[in-house]
Amino acid sequence: MSGPQCIAIDGPAGSGKSTIGEQLARRLGYLYVDTGAMYRAVAWLALHEGVDINDGPALSQLAQGADIVISHPHISDGRQYTVTVNGQDVTWDIRRSDVTRAVSAVSSHPEVRKLLIEQQRMMARQGRVVMVGRDIGAIVLPDAELKIYLTASLAERARRRHTELVERYGPVHENVPPLEELIRDIERRDEIDHDNMQPAIDAIVIETDYLSVPQVMETIAPYVEDTV
Ligand code: DC
Repeated sequence: MSGPQCIAIDGPAGSGKSTIGEQLARRLGYLYVDTGAMYRAVAWLALHEGVDINDGPALSQLAQGADIVISHPHISDGRQYTVTVNGQDVTWDIRRSDVTRAVSAVSSHPEVRKLLIEQQRMMARQGRVVMVGRDIGAIVLPDAELKIYLTASLAERARRRHTELVERYGPVHENVPPLEELIRDIERRDEIDHDNMQPAIDAIVIETDYLSVPQVMETIAPYVEDTV
């Protein structure tokens, strides 16, 4: 008996898609691909190389010439995967607040999206995959056997992100903005990401405000089994 080849999980920042996607992939023995990390890697490289984040063609050229690799984590420091850009480990750097602020602009350029979407489709062709992002079910893998769209209120998503950052860096750290600032940041990113955040019409939409991670896993379990 085999499960679906492709599972698409989409949703806005802080909806829990990475946590759920990673757990599901681990449980099923599928490859886990967080497409947000790919956009973040391009944003990180643009900042690193001083390329204008509003210049789509320049960004696409930069991304095309870069070797961006997402691989299994080789270090146990809480990472879900390792991201390298031209051989440099940027797994944590792509989570920095300057990268987070730049990534929505970077991912809004059609040239950048076209390139990364091609790469994402190639990854999905390699085998069974849980792919997480914003447009996976609707655009990247429209034939995915199972599509899940996770949502949560802005306040709850900001609260989760804040808890995550405090757990990682401690309560007082430059990478941990006050909750109010996180709410504003996520709201701003929602607005910019809006056009690329399309739930597929055949996605199962799950509102997660009052659900724990195990409860979300329980909610999706029958759909995963049904797709077998
Ligand atoms: O999920 P995340 O916060 O790591 O995503 C980073 C940014 O990349 C986010 O602002 C939206 C964008 N993104 C996208 O446009 N399409 C995807 N498939 C994944 C992420």
